[in-house]
Amino acid sequence: MSQLIDKINKLKKDRHAIILVHNYQLPEVQDIADHLGDSLELSRIAAKSDAEVIIFCGVHFMAETASILCPDKKVIMPDIKSGCPMANMITAEDLRELKSRHPKAAVVGYVNTSADVKAELDICCTSTNAVEVVNKLKSSEEIIFVPDKYLADFVSKKTGRVLISWDGYCPTHVKILPEDIIKSVRKHPHAKVIVHPECTPEVISLADEALSTGKMCKYAKESPAKEFIIGTETGIIYRLGKDNPDKKFYPATELAVCPNMKRTTQEKVQWALEELREEVRVPDEIRRRAKKAIDRMLEMV
Ligand code: 13P
Ligand code: SF4
Repeated sequence: MSQLIDKINKLKKDRHAIILVHNYQLPEVQDIADHLGDSLELSRIAAKSDAEVIIFCGVHFMAETASILCPDKKVIMPDIKSGCPMANMITAEDLRELKSRHPKAAVVGYVNTSADVKAELDICCTSTNAVEVVNKLKSSEEIIFVPDKYLADFVSKKTGRVLISWDGYCPTHVKILPEDIIKSVRKHPHAKVIVHPECTPEVISLADEALSTGKMCKYAKESPAKEFIIGTETGIIYRLGKDNPDKKFYPATELAVCPNMKRTTQEKVQWALEELREEVRVPDEIRRRAKKAIDRMLEMV
C-alpha cells in the first residue's frame, strides 16, 4: 500500500471519518472509498453513519445532501469547487416563479439541485427512483419536474404523466450521441447497451436499459451478458471492470467526462482529513425545508 494511503487511513481513524465516493470519481479515489455508490446510496449511508466526519468525494449538491441529512456531522469536500452545472441551471427564484404559474402542481426535484432549490420542493428524487416517485403522485393533477428536461422526458414516457419540466440538462451526458451508440453496437454486436436517463431521448431509445449508476452496477453483475456498452460518465468503467473481472465494458464515447468529478485526488483527500477546512453547511431554515423533501423521498421509496 502506498505511503499516501497509509496516511489517509491513519487520519481517518484519528478523525472518526468515513470517505464516501461517487461512481464517477477517479480510480485513485475509488480505491480509498469506504463506500462507493450513486447519489441515493451515498445519501442513505451518510444518514445512517455514526462517523463524526464525512469526506465527500463527488460534487457539491451531493455533499450538501449529506449535510442536510446529518447536520451534527462535519461534511468536508476535498475540492469545494466541484460543482454540478446541471444543478446550477435552476435557482430557487426560478422555481418559485414556475410554481406561481402552476400553484396546484406537485413539485418534484432531482437530487441534482442546490439546497435552496430543494427547500422549494414537495419531494426530491434521484435517477434510481424518479419513475417510482412520479408514479406515487396519483392524486396530483399537475406535476412540476426540475431541472433535467431529459430525465423528465424519460420519466414522462415511463409513467404516462405529462410533466412541467425545466430547460436543464447535463453537459456531460449530452456529449453521448446516437451515432456513438450505433458505432459501438456495430463493433460489439453482442454487447448490452446501458445508458443513464440523463442522456438524450434519441440515445435512450437505442439502449437496452436506462439506469442510474447504482442500478448499472447491479445490472452488470446480474446479467448473463459478457459485454456492455456504457452510456454515462466514463469514471464508472473502472468500478464495473473491478467488480466484474470476467466481463468487458466499453464507453459509448471517451468524451463523456464530467470535469467536476475529476477534481478530487488522493492528495486532496489527505489535506481534507488534515485540515477539515472545506466544510459544506446549509443554513438551518433552508436545511429544515430541504430535509422534508429528501425525507419524503426516503420514506416513499
Ligand atoms: P446517479 O445518481 O445515477 O449516481 O447520478 C448522479 C449524476 O450526477 C449523474 O450524472
Ligand atoms: Fe452534474 Fe452531469 Fe457531472 Fe452528473 S455528470 S455531476 S449531472 S455535470
